[in-house]
Amino acid sequence: MMDRNLALEVVRVTEMAAIAAARLMGRGEKDLSDQAAVDAMRRAFDALPIRGVVVIGEGERDEAPMLYIGEEVGRRGPDDPAVDIALDPLEGTNLCAYGRPGAIAVVAFAERGQLLNAPDTYMEKLAVGPRAKGAIDLRKSPTDNLRAVAAKLQRRVEDLTVIVLDRPRHEGLIAELRAAGARIRLIEDGDVAAAIATCFEDTGVDVLIGTGGAPEGVIAAAALKSVGGDFQGRLKLRSAEEAERAKAMGVKDFDRVYTAEELARGEVMFAATGVTGGDFLKGVRFFGGGAETHSVVMRSKTGTVRYVQATHKFDKKPGYAP
Ligand code: FBP
Repeated sequence: MMDRNLALEVVRVTEMAAIAAARLMGRGEKDLSDQAAVDAMRRAFDALPIRGVVVIGEGERDEAPMLYIGEEVGRRGPDDPAVDIALDPLEGTNLCAYGRPGAIAVVAFAERGQLLNAPDTYMEKLAVGPRAKGAIDLRKSPTDNLRAVAAKLQRRVEDLTVIVLDRPRHEGLIAELRAAGARIRLIEDGDVAAAIATCFEDTGVDVLIGTGGAPEGVIAAAALKSVGGDFQGRLKLRSAEEAERAKAMGVKDFDRVYTAEELARGEVMFAATGVTGGDFLKGVRFFGGGAETHSVVMRSKTGTVRYVQATHKFDKKPGYAP
């Protein structure tokens, strides 16, 4: 059982990661800010009252020295709750490296064994906000989905805004969306933030569709479930090796369409902090001796969505300044 107060604490780990990454914004080196975010998030976990295990993280143990799959994190007191964690200290590494909008730091918590252990492969994704819940079906064509979403929202397809990752693999998809008449926003990276954007009406984003990272799909599912949106994902394995890996991680049916509930079961908590400014979060703003962060925290149990604006004073938090 995750204590409700934990929701107020989890945001610390994304704040730390976001500040560290944002400090290195625009350097043109994606690994630099990513590493800084990973280090900062790893340190921040030590103070969190949980017995956590990373199930979606920076990679397998042999490829990631920190926040790898299986790593135990948190304060680890005997009474601290056992949680599984899906994290991405810097989602949109290139966005941060070039100072473009949409980079965020994210974590999702669930009770033990409740998150899909997604292999590091691709996933087809479809996400909509709470008002269009129930209208999506990955087994149907993009056109059929747009029509169903438009009907549910009582709008025309021409009045929907759809986000798609700008990738050559989406050429056919984009052509189909254009033929259907939808408005399209092509993004360079960051489909977790894009999926979440569908849940906040003032973003003007209605649908996220297309193929992106599978681990990012589980993180997005946790967020959308918490805020009442709708998400579906289907693994897209690119090689026999990836299929083997998926099998080893317990995936039996490769064609299965997962709902948000199946990707992130039970009670989940989700937190994100803006690194660069985006649709629903401002980026980190530095001032003399400190920084201001903007975060959002969500809990599936109550559906509460909290925005947390924080001012951090570096001189009062030794070891904290990036
Ligand atoms: P990184 O933060 O690891 O750079 O990932 C960014 C991202 O755009 C994700 O949001 C998305 O799911 C994935 O990469 C898409 O993968 P690819 O770049 O291979 O198309």
